[in-house]
Amino acid sequence: MIYLVTGGAGFIGGNFMHYMVNKYPNDLFVCIDALTYAGNLETLEPIKDKSNFKFVHGNICDRKLVYKLFEEYQFDYVVNFAAESHVDRSIENPTIFLETNIIGTSVLMDACRKYGIKRYHQVSTDEVYGDLPLDRPDLLFKEDTPIHTSSPYSASKASADLLVLAYHRTFKLPITISRCSNNYGPYHFPEKLIPLMIKKALSNESLPVYGNGSNVRDWLHVYDHCTAIDLIVRNGKDGEVYNVGGHNEKSNLEVVKTILKTLNKSESLINYVKDRPGHDLRYAMDPTKLMTELGWKPKYTFETGIKETIKWNLEHQDWIDHIISGEYLRFMEKNYNDK
Ligand code: NAD
Ligand code: DAU
Repeated sequence: MIYLVTGGAGFIGGNFMHYMVNKYPNDLFVCIDALTYAGNLETLEPIKDKSNFKFVHGNICDRKLVYKLFEEYQFDYVVNFAAESHVDRSIENPTIFLETNIIGTSVLMDACRKYGIKRYHQVSTDEVYGDLPLDRPDLLFKEDTPIHTSSPYSASKASADLLVLAYHRTFKLPITISRCSNNYGPYHFPEKLIPLMIKKALSNESLPVYGNGSNVRDWLHVYDHCTAIDLIVRNGKDGEVYNVGGHNEKSNLEVVKTILKTLNKSESLINYVKDRPGHDLRYAMDPTKLMTELGWKPKYTFETGIKETIKWNLEHQDWIDHIISGEYLRFMEKNYNDK
């Protein structure tokens, strides 16, 4: 089998590349990544010399390049991770989110239609469902929960999902969509809550918690997301959406306090800052369909996963230091000075 994996130099795409390249030595994995501020070739260092791995530096919106790749390789599967992924950045500048997340998706699917494909898989998010109230723990997102987005990021991901479903219905493109909850784990860019808080705690800087810290996220270790996508791509049913999550709901304050406790740091480092505009209250996934129909089961609990992740961050200071570019510093200064 030949796979095209987009966004493979990012956090989840990178973990997926490691998982797949090692698990399927007889399949070929071609990774295309634009290497934006969030993409990092160092993430791919452990697999870069494997004979079943190829890296192409390029943009999924570049139709000519994408078609050329499809001509060169007869892809069986396309797995689309490439995206602008940070909600706060989408509030600062929505346009690039529309370009990459929507137009990029359409270019990839046009190529799939033109050259033929066994399966196009769209990596989506629980954020397309909007949010749930904090005082109704009985409510979970299901695959038929209506789309109801809050941020330019989630609106762009929902638009892409609708396009993918439209290509399936109108053009009979064989597709699947996975919608996953918040991931954490190795190679996580330190603009997102968990790696940012670990980084700040380690250097005894204040930890910026938005609002009062009561917003809830449903955390899943990235390894478990990768196993889910692998299953869906190979065994999922055409045209179907699968929710991915491990029932690990935690408030942001709980997460931050766990990190501080594990690192033996004082809670006095917590700094409550101005809330994110339109901040979603709670996400919680119901993964029953994926578990019963495809037999998926997560390996990690939050407690085992967070310990391992903190350890990874302690052991990979070089990786973190190298990805902190000028662009990262500019965004961090703007985002947090306004709060
Ligand atoms: P990330 O920001 O860490 O990585 C995105 C990658 O895409 C980077 O390597 C970047 O260089 C690349 N990229 C960006 N624009 C591109 C373009 N135009 N052409 C080619 N490559 C481009 O993101 P992530 O957290 O790894 O998320 C990956 C996917 O998973 C996204 O689609 C995101 O919406 C989805 N998702 C993320 C989470 C999460 O918790 N992080 C949860 C559910 C779903
Ligand atoms: O739910 C899946 C989504 O999870 C993915 O689709 C997105 O790509 C990914 O970025 C993530 O979105 P969130 O907005 O939930 O993640 P983030 O790490 O930015 O924030 C998690 C929570 O922590 C959220 O409630 C906001 C809060 N937060 C975040 C930052 C960066 C803070 O309180 N302080 C911070 O400095």
